[in-house]
Amino acid sequence: MSKLRLGVNIDHVATVRNARGADYPDPLRAAKIAVAAGADGITAHLREDRRHIRDSDMDALKKELNVPLNFEMAATDEMLEIALRILPHACCLVPEKREERTTEGGLDILANESTLSDYVAKLNKAGIRVSLFIEADEAQIEAAKRIGAPVVELHTGAYCHALEMDDAKKASADLQRIQDAASHGAKLELEMHAGHGITFKSVKPIAMIPEFAELNIGHFLISEAVFIGLDAAVRQMRGLMNEARAQRAKIA
Ligand code: PXP
Repeated sequence: MSKLRLGVNIDHVATVRNARGADYPDPLRAAKIAVAAGADGITAHLREDRRHIRDSDMDALKKELNVPLNFEMAATDEMLEIALRILPHACCLVPEKREERTTEGGLDILANESTLSDYVAKLNKAGIRVSLFIEADEAQIEAAKRIGAPVVELHTGAYCHALEMDDAKKASADLQRIQDAASHGAKLELEMHAGHGITFKSVKPIAMIPEFAELNIGHFLISEAVFIGLDAAVRQMRGLMNEARAQRAKIA
């Protein structure tokens, strides 16, 4: 079983800052607190409309952090140029629609194989670890492998939502789909990540899946920070991930 890393997404610190056009709260300060509390890496999504993270945030995160920076981006020439200038540790390619509130689904690699393979090749060549954000779907996983991505991140949003809504039947089916996809990807020697919608309630079932090497968690942690502080929220999430892995090791 691989070690399970925690990537903390700090986008919504920037959302709060931008709501008032002020300089605070500062996403870099949040990133440093998250790292001190046990985050293994920091994730930030520079969207085309710059609704939260800005170019200057990416520059500051890259300059000041001493943990891996995961740059979430759409596969566009503008973002590719920024990634190749900043040279983050990793890039996670995500689908992006201007009207969506958050990344609603995974990439359709099958429908965009040649375009995406071009972006993957350019990022690989620059030494940036590329991951593709997709639904838990075997055909998409196989396509990710075919176009040369070393990492896949599975979209956990539907599962987490079903769990929050107490829809046990849907949650159980969704979790099984995620488990099967994680096994399939690992057999293809892809590094498997998961993210979207993860909360204190949903983190343990996901962290129990042994193939996952990294979870990326943002909105819930920043929300919880309003009540208990960011340090405590990250520590509690890290603790739950550790508990899940310890329980899993006993079963195995
Ligand atoms: N992983 C990816 C690829 C994402 O796009 C997001 C949302 O930006 C996350 C993880 C984190 O999701 P959440 O903010 O719901 O925890």
